[in-house]
Amino acid sequence: MKGDIEKFILPHLKTLDGYSAHRSPETLKGKTTVPVSKIVKLDANENLWGCSPRVQKALGGFQSFNIYPDSHQTELRKVLANYCGVTPKNIVVGNGSGEILELILQLFVGAGDEVVNFVPTFDMYRFRAELRNARLVEVPRKSDFSIDIARAVKAVTPKTKLIVLANPNNPDGMLTLQSDIKKLLDTGVPVLVDEAYYEFSGETIVPWLKDFPNLMVLRTFSKWTGLAGLRIGYGIFPSKIADYLLTTKLPYNVNIAAQVAVLESFKDMAYLKSRIKAIITERERLISQLKKISWLKVYPSKANFVLCTVLNGKAEELREELQRRGILVRFWDRPLMRDFIRISVGKPEHTDTLIKTLKEIGG
Ligand SMILES: Cc1ncc(COP(=O)(O)O)c(C=O)c1O
Repeated sequence: MKGDIEKFILPHLKTLDGYSAHRSPETLKGKTTVPVSKIVKLDANENLWGCSPRVQKALGGFQSFNIYPDSHQTELRKVLANYCGVTPKNIVVGNGSGEILELILQLFVGAGDEVVNFVPTFDMYRFRAELRNARLVEVPRKSDFSIDIARAVKAVTPKTKLIVLANPNNPDGMLTLQSDIKKLLDTGVPVLVDEAYYEFSGETIVPWLKDFPNLMVLRTFSKWTGLAGLRIGYGIFPSKIADYLLTTKLPYNVNIAAQVAVLESFKDMAYLKSRIKAIITERERLISQLKKISWLKVYPSKANFVLCTVLNGKAEELREELQRRGILVRFWDRPLMRDFIRISVGKPEHTDTLIKTLKEIGG
């Protein structure tokens, strides 16, 4: 047909498998037995304690939404450098850590280049690499989700432009051995370590930046500061790489509300640290409660979520039944991830509701 512009679309994008995002509670109206406001949302590893009250106060009174934000992110980079023990020259802030991933791929990975990815993992890496028409080299994790380091190192070829590693990994919450990360870095290829859950794991690779010029670290404010809806994350880089990223990013990539929110959060560290502590305590309680349910196999976690295998039926059916009763969890049923559910750590009352409901369903 004349004027049909679809034929101009890049061929590889016509078959791209998109990212399967979680459902927003408001879209579930009528599909659960509880009102939308009572839905227990344990499907996206958000922070159910919410953000610091200082953020709400500061944004409510903020007067300069009409002015573009500082394109160079000067104040934010200073505060984040202090938090990470690096210099502001090492920091780049993005519209969620997803944007930083995007900028890294844009910098290093062209069509046909290879990206090494340890599956199962956060599906965003696959999705955004495929979008750039890169070739994904998937190195399967072992059954306990640890990485197969010998296979990983062998997977690196002259075409490899990036190795991506979530640490702790999503969906299982496991940390990778630092000795294995060192072997990845020794390949000389750019290595991106995604520390989205660092504040819950307490383990970071950031001090290694001074020894490994091919190391990049990704962080987010979506989890520990409870700012997922404002979309802000950052990366820690060798200063030369940070310069390239600052040059190639959109000028006003981080909105002013998100910037204010992060700066306010850092003024409320004692509060945020107490929330992190509460989430870690609750994670351990959730794990011990889930272990009492005989038809679930529970995996250890250093993040703010817990992965389980459903031993007596289909994970999808369990997800549907939980959703019907007003509890949202994530499920997988595909190769390497047969009948898994992942449950975010909420407040104690969320754990109680979940466990009670699981026992009712199981019974
Ligand atoms: C490993 C990992 N990295 C990054 C993110 C997302 O971060 P952001 O909200 O900053 O894009 C997630 C979210 O679930 C994640 O699991």
